[in-house]
Amino acid sequence: MNILVIGSGAREHAIINKFKSSNNIIWAFPGNPGIFQIAQKTNLLSMNFEEISVFCKDNQIDLVVIGPEQPLAEGITDYLEQQNIAAFGPSKLATEIESSKVFSKTLMQKYGIPTARFRSFSKTDSIEEINEFANSLGFPIVVKADGLAAGKGVAICNDINEFEVTINDYFSGKFADAGFKIVVEEFMEGEEASIFAITDGNDYLLLPSAQDHKRIGEGDTGLNTGGMGAYSPAPIVTAKILEKIESTIIKPTLLAMQSENRIFKGCLYAGLMIDKNGNSKVVEFNARFGDPETEAVLELVEGDFAGLLYSVAIGKIDKTAIQITKNKFASCVILASKGYPETFEKGYVICGLDKIQNKNIKIYHSGTAEKDNQIVTNGGRVLAIVSADNSLKQSLDNIYETISNINFENKYYRKDIGHRALK
Ligand code: AMP
Ligand code: GLY
Repeated sequence: MNILVIGSGAREHAIINKFKSSNNIIWAFPGNPGIFQIAQKTNLLSMNFEEISVFCKDNQIDLVVIGPEQPLAEGITDYLEQQNIAAFGPSKLATEIESSKVFSKTLMQKYGIPTARFRSFSKTDSIEEINEFANSLGFPIVVKADGLAAGKGVAICNDINEFEVTINDYFSGKFADAGFKIVVEEFMEGEEASIFAITDGNDYLLLPSAQDHKRIGEGDTGLNTGGMGAYSPAPIVTAKILEKIESTIIKPTLLAMQSENRIFKGCLYAGLMIDKNGNSKVVEFNARFGDPETEAVLELVEGDFAGLLYSVAIGKIDKTAIQITKNKFASCVILASKGYPETFEKGYVICGLDKIQNKNIKIYHSGTAEKDNQIVTNGGRVLAIVSADNSLKQSLDNIYETISNINFENKYYRKDIGHRALK
């Protein structure tokens, strides 16, 4: 197949690497230097849907795979499908399960899908009423911007003062119009897990479970990030817990989306909180593959992954296209620029990439650029280092050994990825 992959992160690099194994010709946009070692550059200049569709026609593209949420939320799939181009990723309306927390929470409430107790508010609601609801939940409580906020729109408030400052920030434009509506919800205790359901809207296939590490600091402390590392499968998701997740969350959500005339076709990412009794609630849904979970999860996928995504794009999932590797464990550790997720410097030369000998290691690029024939840092999350092995510990040992040989100024990474599972 001729495939165009939209995106420029380590997630897209990992997806393209999987596609490479089955005789496909792959283009990427915007891409990154790592991606362009295995995929072709396009002549595209911007995320203009019309230009993308012309490119697809000129190059006989059979399938477009969309990595990030932004183009999905803007309706790229709808546009391409109108031009008879197969696209993997939900429609604009279905993407609202991620791009509007108010829609997503209201959907869960309406269809009895387990999630934290909540109410949504907007700028024009009275502060007394909002505070009264907050106090009724008891602290800590969670405030979420309704719209897309690059993973930064969630705040945990420990008392009413923090809460008032937070909602004032949101309502006065901290996240532009994404924060003019908010969700206020109960704080959930437990352990998080990510489940990816590849679905044509009716039937679905689950990829191995994963656990992300969202906080910047070791021991899960400090600010939330896009994700600092992941492993798969996540032992917290036992077979019994997974069965319940399917029956109480995945299946009802797909049916709910059908009932709302928003058939969800693509990767439904359920971010879950699993409590000590093994009950799962939805923290959030995303309308795409997670990053960095995908880098680890795909290590456990064999077969024709591109064929699977194509079958979904044309509306009838072929669950036989891939096989899941059993008895292996995959991990991913992110190398970041010190200062991320706040301010950081860019442009530092990355050394050691060409010296990695371990065949059991994959290096995916995220925030990198090419300058004077060298690879330099160009973002907060710079590289994803991935390995699969016979034990979780061995996969992480492979990664940490590799990390000691890759160097750049201000290199930062968490040294405790997998700590929960290793305990
Ligand atoms: P979200 O963007 O909704 O996934 O939120 C980002 C992170 O904030 C989650 O991965 C959780 O670690 C945390 N979080 C969000 N909502 C809640 C909640 N209701 N209770 C506890 N933690 C939460
Ligand atoms: N790993 C978190 C996300 O992709 O949103």
